[in-house]
Amino acid sequence: MQKQNRILSGVQPSGDLHLGNYLGAIKNFVSLQKDYDCFFCVVDLHAITVWQDPLLLAKKTREVTAAFIASGIDPKENVLFAQSQVPQHAQLAWIFSCVARMGWLNRMTQFKDKAGKDKENASVGLFTYPTLMAADILIYLATHVPVGDDQKQHLELTRDIAQKFNNDFKTDFFPLPEPLIFGHATRVMSLRDGTKKMSKSDASEYSLIMLNDSPDQITKKIKKAKTDTMPLPANLKKATERPEAFNLLSIFAALKDMSVEEVITLYEGKEFAYFKKDLIDLLVDKLEPIGKEINKLMKDKVYLDEIMLDGKNKATTVADSVLSSVYEIIGFKIS
Ligand code: ADP
Ligand code: TRP
Repeated sequence: MQKQNRILSGVQPSGDLHLGNYLGAIKNFVSLQKDYDCFFCVVDLHAITVWQDPLLLAKKTREVTAAFIASGIDPKENVLFAQSQVPQHAQLAWIFSCVARMGWLNRMTQFKDKAGKDKENASVGLFTYPTLMAADILIYLATHVPVGDDQKQHLELTRDIAQKFNNDFKTDFFPLPEPLIFGHATRVMSLRDGTKKMSKSDASEYSLIMLNDSPDQITKKIKKAKTDTMPLPANLKKATERPEAFNLLSIFAALKDMSVEEVITLYEGKEFAYFKKDLIDLLVDKLEPIGKEINKLMKDKVYLDEIMLDGKNKATTVADSVLSSVYEIIGFKIS
């Protein structure tokens, strides 16, 4: 297939990557790379919407790049880069902050979740975060955006911004990008609470599986993972009524590339201890090679920096040309 459609997606370097990032996003990037022209961005500008230690930020940025490569993204065929290195993202974000409406941003649930009770003390950047995300996507005129289920609302906002810009300036310059939310675990839940998203900001280390967890850590975490006392459910409807059981079944399904129904057929009526043993083996089998490769790549700073410099140059060529067109449309061109 001729690569016509363009993908942009971003991952924050704000902590170690977890199974939710892998199954909801990165694993899907790997499967899409052959059919799309892909830009994968480490969104360090987004990360500083909450405090980041400067000594760790560059390391985390390399680590996300290493995780992309270790998971199977070809760094030669795709553009891998850090958001801060392409200033056109921030320039377009300003323009979009003049297109987006306060009311639209006020509805964003991620801001409400992340700001918590102390909204007055949240950074302005945390509030305007989705306009930067829209700029990340539209500065490449991306048509498709693979993300986890939690980013659906931000994608709708991106489409609203593109649409309003096109209407305001009587143009069809920006595409309306489509979210690509697929796989059998589009929202991986905490191992301690099946109603809460698995997230870097969770205080309990037992709630998350990290991409570079050792087999020992994986074993401990899955053994401790919350379940109920009943045997495994007999059908999908019963499974969805039991959030922790459903979460573990979905993780198994996503790693094995089978449907949750198929996993249920294999394990219905079995005890959790039996299923957990197979889940541990599967997780170790899939994650151990990725973790090892991340650790290996992290020792080669020169290689990672070369990849990111090459990515920055490729990304800048596109971003610069798109921003020039936007400037012209807006009336910023002198001469
Ligand atoms: P986090 O939400 O952990 O801070 P990011 O914001 O960097 O991570 O998200 C990177 C990608 O991982 C996004 O596409 C997001 O939708 C996806 N993602 C994050 N957490 C999960 C989860 N628990 N389940 C599925 N996908 C997730
Ligand atoms: N907002 C995304 C998240 O919190 C990260 C992100 C930033 C992103 N820019 C993006 C995702 C552009 C997709 C496309 O997970």
